Amino acid sequence: MEKDQRLKRIKNHVKKQFEYDTTGHDFDHMKRVALWSRRIAGEEEIDPLLAEAAGWLHDIGDEKLFSNPDKAVEDRDRLLHDLDFTHFQRSEIEKAIETVSFRKGKKPTSELGAVVQDADRLDAIGAIGIARAFTYGGAKGQSIDSEEKDTPSSIQHFHDKLVKLSGMMNTESGRREAMRRHRFMEMYLYEFNREKQIDRDIHLEEGHNG
Ligand code: ADP
Ligand code: NI
Repeated sequence: MEKDQRLKRIKNHVKKQFEYDTTGHDFDHMKRVALWSRRIAGEEEIDPLLAEAAGWLHDIGDEKLFSNPDKAVEDRDRLLHDLDFTHFQRSEIEKAIETVSFRKGKKPTSELGAVVQDADRLDAIGAIGIARAFTYGGAKGQSIDSEEKDTPSSIQHFHDKLVKLSGMMNTESGRREAMRRHRFMEMYLYEFNREKQIDRDIHLEEGHNG
């Protein structure tokens, strides 16, 4: 089967599963991770077809997104089988996907896993990462920011997770892009704090206390 035909079938499979997501795991996220996986793989001399396929499929079977993760993984594997991916290729993809999530805290056990993890992390930072964080926060009814230290907020999520990601990249090309995105995020946070500080100052000038 032609490469383009195989990727098209994968893409359609993914579209069906993530079309209605509002938590930052929508079809466009899968697409960006697929394209960045392919791009990074090209620079790291790793099979770009496997990387793109793994990128498209990387969130399938995630326990927080699927009510029946085992079935989702079975369907994914059957699709790859039908598309003539060999047993070895299917297990490479499976292994790569298993370790992408930061929350699971796993280090990738393969080069392909390292590539897909980098692509997924890139999508959590920079201009797109900022948009996704507030989209996620909105979907969960979470505040933009909170004065209370222990109350979850999207800004808190930047400090807890997003500012750390550029220092955790696996590949050289992933790191290069991550540094740029990280700098932009720092600029954003700097401006966010500046505006907040002005609000505080005005509040105080007006004689409020608290
Ligand atoms: P993944 O499943 O891709 O590892 P997550 O489910 O942790 O990632 O996050 C998906 C998107 O939602 C990311 O862009 C992430 O930054 C954002 N996100 C996750 N948790 C929060 C949160 N508590 N507040 C704001 N954004 C969040
Ligand atoms: Ni993802």
